[in-house]
Amino acid sequence: MGFATDAIHAGQEPDPTTGAIITPIYQTSTYVQQGLGRHRGFEYGRTQNPTRSAVEANIAALEKGIGALAFSSGMAAISAVVTFVKQGERVVVTEDLYGGTYRLFERVLTQFGIRFSYVDSSRFDEVEKAMGEDVTLVFLETPTNPVLRLTDVKAVSDLAHRFKARVVVDNTFMSPFFQRPLELDADMVLHSATKYLNGHSDSIGGVVVAARKEDAEHLAFVQNAVGAILSPFDSWLLLRGTKTLALRMERHNTNAVALAAFLSKHPKVQKVYYPGLPEHPGHELAKQQMSGFGGMLSFETGSLEAAQRVLEGARVFSLAESLGGVESLISHPATMTHASIPVEDRLRFGVTEGLVRLSVGVEDLEDLQADLDQALAKA
Ligand SMILES: Cc1ncc(COP(=O)(O)O)c(C=O)c1O
Repeated sequence: MGFATDAIHAGQEPDPTTGAIITPIYQTSTYVQQGLGRHRGFEYGRTQNPTRSAVEANIAALEKGIGALAFSSGMAAISAVVTFVKQGERVVVTEDLYGGTYRLFERVLTQFGIRFSYVDSSRFDEVEKAMGEDVTLVFLETPTNPVLRLTDVKAVSDLAHRFKARVVVDNTFMSPFFQRPLELDADMVLHSATKYLNGHSDSIGGVVVAARKEDAEHLAFVQNAVGAILSPFDSWLLLRGTKTLALRMERHNTNAVALAAFLSKHPKVQKVYYPGLPEHPGHELAKQQMSGFGGMLSFETGSLEAAQRVLEGARVFSLAESLGGVESLISHPATMTHASIPVEDRLRFGVTEGLVRLSVGVEDLEDLQADLDQALAKA
């Protein structure tokens, strides 16, 4: 089936008791068993839930994986992935990644003897230099948050596999509609499902999809053992969200392509970061490994003062953290999403005080453009 058909139907059978077309919210903590050791595959709500299973099957189909596991947040999903790494082993990580991921790695997981090497993974030679026998996981974010650097997933996966390391890609920014890392030989793909997969800014969630059965089984074990599960109601919201993923992503993309072109000609804008622009260093790679450029873009205003005037002057774009919802958001990575990254590191990636990030929504393009124009006039 095609993507949009799978998005609506995969993992979803009419409810066996009533025929309800929409998977019900199975809001239950336990299931009555017919006898000792005799049950219908459902024993306890943390371990199995039909609403959660439906959304997991749905997202596994969209990412072309063998199985998916849904967690209570994107961070819980990332924590589950890192359980593949043992004490003393090392993870090679894209350096300019989501600040919360960096915080988890540096302030929580280093306490357990796991080591992290941060590299500019858009440069293959840098990844190559960082690899070693002690590396068991390569953690990629592509495009990166917020300066949208791209990593060649196929090339890095081939390299990592020579070292018997797994590759996981945080695919939050593109969604499976525009990028499917498992088809590029990554071993796992994860999402902050809070973002495009949900699409309506009304729930927090995370998901990991595995290419191999044994990895999916390990993740299911961890999901149950740790217990950071996606609730039945949040699973239902996510399932409702993925139904319109194809439609939404197309519109996010068209709006962002047009706004990136508008901003790159704007006299108050010094630089635009968007893989859809021909001058973006990852543009050719973007055309190969993605089928669109997505709805995220950032631009440089030159100073904190200018950025602040744009951020506070926007009316249709709301000043808020997060991304991927139908409504357009504007944010300031240096003080919001990336505040946990040391200043000298974030400056190296281009996360300056003048950098503004947009999550371009699905509103009318004319309104979005007019809003940025009036906000920039104040900068
Ligand atoms: C790229 C990326 N990965 C992971 C996360 C973490 O997800 P969550 O906020 O759902 O825990 C975020 C959150 O902003 C993100 O942008």
